[in-house]
Amino acid sequence: MKFDPKKLNALSVRLHGKHIGVINRLAGDRQLFAFEQDYIDDEKRPTLSLSFKGSTGGLVTQTRPTVRRVPPFFSNLLPEGHLRDYLAKRADVNSEREFFLLAVLGADLPGALVVAPFEREAQRAGAHHDNEHDEDDHGHGGEEPLRFSLAGVQLKFSAVMEASGGLTIAADGMGGSWIVKLPSARHQAVPENELAMLELARRAGISVPENKLVDIAGIKGLPEQAHTVESKALAVQRFDRLPNGEPVHMEDFAQVFGQFPNDKYKHRSYANIAAVLWAESGEESTYEFVRRLVFSVLIGNADMHLKNWSLLYPDRRKPVLSPAYDFVATLPYIPGDTLGLSFGDSRSLSEITPDQMRRFADTARIPASPLWQIAVETAERTVAAWKTLEQADVLPKDLRASIEKQILAVAATVK
Ligand SMILES: Nc1ncnc2c1ncn2[C@@H]1O[C@H](COP(=O)(O)OP(=O)(O)O)[C@@H](O)[C@H]1O
Ligand SMILES: [Mg+2]
Repeated sequence: MKFDPKKLNALSVRLHGKHIGVINRLAGDRQLFAFEQDYIDDEKRPTLSLSFKGSTGGLVTQTRPTVRRVPPFFSNLLPEGHLRDYLAKRADVNSEREFFLLAVLGADLPGALVVAPFEREAQRAGAHHDNEHDEDDHGHGGEEPLRFSLAGVQLKFSAVMEASGGLTIAADGMGGSWIVKLPSARHQAVPENELAMLELARRAGISVPENKLVDIAGIKGLPEQAHTVESKALAVQRFDRLPNGEPVHMEDFAQVFGQFPNDKYKHRSYANIAAVLWAESGEESTYEFVRRLVFSVLIGNADMHLKNWSLLYPDRRKPVLSPAYDFVATLPYIPGDTLGLSFGDSRSLSEITPDQMRRFADTARIPASPLWQIAVETAERTVAAWKTLEQADVLPKDLRASIEKQILAVAATVK
């Protein structure tokens, strides 16, 4: 559907194909989200976000307007940085104007959400279907806008994996059950690094999505500007899409805590995440979280902020911890960096201590007893797996040496 986003004042929010609420654009560039009564009254309603769950378990329907940005839950569906600038430019929308950006990108969002022009508004904005040929609709530089959104900073696209194993990105960017993450312009061999760390994590007992390195030159439909000096990208299977394309709902922990993406390193700690997992998802998700946290220190991953942890809603109501993603050994790129959030009052990437783990458990109000054992097992398995990891062969020599040094140094503290 094509329309002029700047003519819109209301966006329909659809969860699993059903209209559940409206984002209104008010005077003074304020935006306000409100649930529909049907959704409020539905006792079996699919969960949109834990941030709308009240202390007694009911739906929080009182919402506050936000200025310029869309409310935090929706703001977190939009990309940041480089990816945002790129998609905004193609759509000919100011990248700061989140309401308009969401109007353009809302057709294919993370999880089971679609945000689209609210019906009674669509006509006024000149919405019509693509097959009605219209020369004036082209965005900046004669390019069509892309109509998908993924979070994060790094350039990435959603892609279809063909039976032949090749990847294709649709002309409008929509659809597909794989994410292609392109290399960084700043840091060397990030796709190779992430591939190796995901495989190492898998062997340490952590749940990770299918992934592989792909030749960028072989990706069909990749926009011209996305071509880079490095030749490989990382393809990761989407856990918020079933193989038949049906969406599985998800939210990240910035959404859970109602914080804007800007604040992804702030206000909360890993214990806060663990407390939510313990209460909402149970023991298994919580222990898996601890495994990943320990693994992140072992590999020197300083970037595990609130948006790098997500909940999935496979039964549409109850959350489980999603498979892991964005596992990159970042210390070799930024030496001396520290953990993205506080872990038992420490942000150290040089060690993990029993005291630290106890403080973490106390703050999260979870039993401390199995946690140290989980840490020891994770360290042992990581060290053992590293020694035989063929995927480490794709790493530049100095990067590989630096990761090895980090793993062994931290593992020596977890005994
Ligand atoms: N395998 C996946 N399935 C579904 N969503 C994913 C997957 N991997 C990442 N995402 C989503 O895409 C966002 C960006 O991916 P991420 O790997 O974190 O990239 P970046 O390096 O740009 O932060 C994540 O915050 C998450 O919401
Ligand atoms: Mg990320």
